[in-house]
Amino acid sequence: MRMYDVIKKKRDGMKLSADEISFFIRGCVSGEIPDEQIAALLMAIYINGMCGEETDALTKAMAYSGYVQDLSAFQGTVDKHSTGGVGDKTSLIVAPIVAANGCTVAKMSGRSLGHTGGTIDKLESIPGFRTSLSPDEFERQLSDIGIVIASQSGEMAPADKKIYALRDLTATIESIPLIASSIMSKKLAAGAESIVLDVKTGKGAFMTDIEKSRALANEMIRIGKASGKKVAALITDMDAPLGNAVGNSLEVEEAVSVLRGEGPSDLTELCLALASHMISLSRNIPFDNARAMAERSLYNRDGLEKLRELIIYQHGDPDIIESPELMHKAPIKEPVISESGGFISAEDALCIGNAALALGAGRESIGASIDHSAGVLLLVKPGDRVEKGQPLAVLHGKDAKSIIKARQIVLSSFSISDKPVSARPVLLDVFLG
Ligand code: URA
Repeated sequence: MRMYDVIKKKRDGMKLSADEISFFIRGCVSGEIPDEQIAALLMAIYINGMCGEETDALTKAMAYSGYVQDLSAFQGTVDKHSTGGVGDKTSLIVAPIVAANGCTVAKMSGRSLGHTGGTIDKLESIPGFRTSLSPDEFERQLSDIGIVIASQSGEMAPADKKIYALRDLTATIESIPLIASSIMSKKLAAGAESIVLDVKTGKGAFMTDIEKSRALANEMIRIGKASGKKVAALITDMDAPLGNAVGNSLEVEEAVSVLRGEGPSDLTELCLALASHMISLSRNIPFDNARAMAERSLYNRDGLEKLRELIIYQHGDPDIIESPELMHKAPIKEPVISESGGFISAEDALCIGNAALALGAGRESIGASIDHSAGVLLLVKPGDRVEKGQPLAVLHGKDAKSIIKARQIVLSSFSISDKPVSARPVLLDVFLG
């Protein structure tokens, strides 16, 4: 088989066979196929798409291109995945709530990139917290406390790593078969039997259009079911940031407030929805029963106690729960003042994510370092009334130059209207597999 012929076939709009797809993936991992040929095939897939059979073959080939975790010894394993957004700290809240309800939460997470945050960076803002676990450590912890959140092993789905980096350079990210196979290959390799997907839509998501987000959700459900998984997908708003905090330490503090029953309503609502679907799939029980369980463990603080257990097991300092000042704190805190009065009609999540990036909370490129203390704390949300001169947000940073840059970006993120505006709900659609 020649890679040239595989590229030509897809370029001409024909269907690739499972053998051709696995030849491509093997060559990506072994290094036998050069980057220019990989990129050419990705562009041909971007332009001509893939049918369900091709996407399934691509997902499986990528999932089995490296280490595949075997969780068959555990009951009710469940995982969640967010397609990425601004202020998305749901895993820190949802995983403990679900584990507190007898489910086995085996979660592998990623780091922040560009304007979107990553769960691993948030957890690493807790002093001492270890995110890199060996397979043995992962399984031991799962069997001891029923919850693990670890960084994705470098040996897992290596084909996706290679392909994703090239997609990033060749403007081929926004392709449903490529996104769906990328996400689902990692979920299949991570081994949980149930998966709940949080598909973001709006200005701060990489899918800005809700119909495309729905199509992506349905494709991922189809792939998961074809591999014997139980899958549900929620379409959720990412026009505005989720909750009020954007930035690693700030988000951990906000996650704790939700687990105390004192968090922002949009974030609390989404966490309860995600947790309920995870409990329902994992325990095979009706959604309404799962919802009642999720609500109970939030308000009786079982979820908070489970987070404490998770932090202790992974060597973090549990005292941050009562004393968040033990986490990294920014030396400079500056308010952003509203230049007019009215109703907040938009709070652009992409701009707020970029402001947090300018402050040092995120990374422009893979491997760059980040400042755990930096970020943006929003004081108002879409729909709120504001007066001229009122603080809209507080910037947390370490130097005047980045604060000045972030202030401009945050100011440009707000649209203020004369007339009352109602905010878009956080939960926009649900698809059950
Ligand atoms: N996240 C992924 O893991 N893969 C994609 O292709 C897009 C988002």
